[in-house]
Amino acid sequence: MPPTLTNLITLARQSGEILRTSFGQKLQVDHKGIIDLVSDADHRSEQFLISYIHQHFPGDTIVAEESGRQSGTADHAWYIDPLDGTVNYVHGLPIYSVSIAYAEGGEVRLGVVYDPSRDECFSAELSKGAWLNGQPIHPTSTSDLDHALLVTGFPYDIRTNPDNNLDHYAHFATHSQAVRRLGSAALELCYVACGRFDGYWELWVKAWDVSAGGLIAQEAGAIVTNIRGATDFISPPQSILAANPHLHPLMLHGLNR
Ligand code: IPD
Ligand code: CA
Ligand code: CA
Repeated sequence: MPPTLTNLITLARQSGEILRTSFGQKLQVDHKGIIDLVSDADHRSEQFLISYIHQHFPGDTIVAEESGRQSGTADHAWYIDPLDGTVNYVHGLPIYSVSIAYAEGGEVRLGVVYDPSRDECFSAELSKGAWLNGQPIHPTSTSDLDHALLVTGFPYDIRTNPDNNLDHYAHFATHSQAVRRLGSAALELCYVACGRFDGYWELWVKAWDVSAGGLIAQEAGAIVTNIRGATDFISPPQSILAANPHLHPLMLHGLNR
């Protein structure tokens, strides 16, 4: 039997509790790069999620940020970010989440993003809708960029990668109401889904960052593509653009100007 949305919600809430308990405590922090961090809380959350999947859905493929890919049945795959927003978390900034997606036959069918700080659980099921703590959510209807509050993020190799998004940031900073950066791609997508932001884009994201949030935004009624407008925002080279249906074409134009 495949997992249900309730399974994913329970899992996300339980791993979120692991994160909430360690938040603000002394952490063991390692560097994956100069500015790319991982903490013992990331590892504990991921281990909890992986052992649950092994126990209840043995043989499924798991793609998890910290331990990589464990290949199993290609048709049943989980994408896991055990702590999205690690830099915030390590600094004691309560903007972080757990992101879990389940795909069947290469198509993401279930997605959950849980924010332990606000006890906000965003969820979606393919063709059935998107919810925040069980209530249906929808994007804004803002139709021009001058009134649009946008959000983006930057890759960890921002210092060396010429394609580091600073050019697009400068463009939209002067062609929108404002551009924010929260530091959790999964939450940024959910905030487009529920109308707190009008649009979000980012380059070099990974499948575990955006699979769940992308489905949630789509099911809420946003348009979600890569920054070239292709519907596949999961396969490399990854990028993502999520916005309400009025703004998506305007942002797409801005990203390909
Ligand atoms: C990062 C966050 C950040 C985004 C980076 C991601 P992590 O994930 O989502 O907002 O800009 O691209 O890697 O490392 O905190 O799981
Ligand atoms: Ca992430
Ligand atoms: Ca992470």
